[in-house]
Amino acid sequence: MNKLIASDLYKSYQSGGHYSEVLSGVSITISEGQTIGVIGSSGSGKTTLLQILAGLEHSDQGNIFFNEINLLSNNLENFNSMRNALFGYAYQFHYLLDDLTVFENCNLVFKIANNKKITENSQKILQTLDELGIIELQNKYPYMLSGGERQRVAIARAVVHEPEFVLMDEPTGNLDQENAEIIQDLTIKLAKDHNIGIVVATHDLNYAGKLDTVFRIENGDLKPT
Ligand SMILES: Nc1ncnc2c1ncn2[C@@H]1O[C@H](COP(=O)(O)OP(=O)(O)O)[C@@H](O)[C@H]1O
Ligand SMILES: [Mg+2]
Repeated sequence: MNKLIASDLYKSYQSGGHYSEVLSGVSITISEGQTIGVIGSSGSGKTTLLQILAGLEHSDQGNIFFNEINLLSNNLENFNSMRNALFGYAYQFHYLLDDLTVFENCNLVFKIANNKKITENSQKILQTLDELGIIELQNKYPYMLSGGERQRVAIARAVVHEPEFVLMDEPTGNLDQENAEIIQDLTIKLAKDHNIGIVVATHDLNYAGKLDTVFRIENGDLKPT
């Protein structure tokens, strides 16, 4: 069973002469198909943790393994070369490119990947849009879509290259209850149907209640809820 294992992650920031430790030895294991929630007050380190897990930010200390592969060993080349294949990322604000259609936004994942494991596949894009109930939007531009639809496109973009893990930073944070429910259920279904491990940072306790495991991040550490 594929696992992402992070151990003893430390991260602090120094800004304006003020030092603050955001992660103080965080360990977490994410198994394939597992849905994990991370809740915690604003500024508690949710985004920092997700960014470090995805290799988008560096920790000061700690290790991250994909199965037996140490992603932080040797140099960052290891993480960089595997990052696109291993991870998908979705944010609270969808960050779709305005000049590109829904289909082209999804295709971007394949265009920027310089990893041979990721090959462009129109069929896969259409299948993913279909799974998310938005195939009829494929030729529309982001400005033509509702907030809920945009977020579904953002989720499609996060999973279209069949990553092992998807990290979602407050994906329902900007949505009304009805659209939030749609995103909650779709993301969980994707995780289960495709055996993707997902980590969701969320304030949405309704969402958290549907996930397999939920941690609270507090004082730089994860605590079971
Ligand atoms: N690049 C940065 N430089 C300085 N401080 C930062 C930076 N990124 C995050 N922080 C600080 O780290 C803490 C945790 O931030 P964050 O991970 O964004 O929390 P959350 O996502 O839970 O709201 C906050 O106090 C924030 O101000
Ligand atoms: Mg955040």
